[in-house]
Amino acid sequence: MDLVLRLKEFYLLEMFQLTLYQSQMDSIQNQYISHVYERIIELEKHHVDYFKSTLQEMGEDVPKISGGLFALAGHFMGETLDLTSAENRYKMGIAVENKAIEMNRVFIMEAWKHPDICKRLWHNMTDEEFHLLWFKDNLKHVTSLIQST
Ligand SMILES: [Fe+2]
Ligand SMILES: [Fe+2]
Repeated sequence: MDLVLRLKEFYLLEMFQLTLYQSQMDSIQNQYISHVYERIIELEKHHVDYFKSTLQEMGEDVPKISGGLFALAGHFMGETLDLTSAENRYKMGIAVENKAIEMNRVFIMEAWKHPDICKRLWHNMTDEEFHLLWFKDNLKHVTSLIQST
């Protein structure tokens, strides 16, 4: 495993989550949901900052993001974004968080000899699991509202 490459990849993965959720803030009208998004964004910022500062401490470059959110979505999900409805936003959230959890799980195994990094990955993965559960639960509410109207 190339540790630096992995750290760079995770910096991009976390930037993807951060910019994805930031981009959705404007379309959220419900106050409760916007508070949840604010908190998710705060946590994703912590994730981004961790990989950024770890790379900087190692004297490595922090990757530049060219092409913005859509390029990141293409890189990690291999698909274009459709965030036109709450249902689509939650489905995308579920797909993205699942992907992040899966990637964290692999990295935890690979980084076993780096206990500090490993611990941080466990904690980040726990945050992603909470995000996943929230998106799943809200998707259920949205789809049951649609079915009942
Ligand atoms: Fe994250
Ligand atoms: Fe997340």
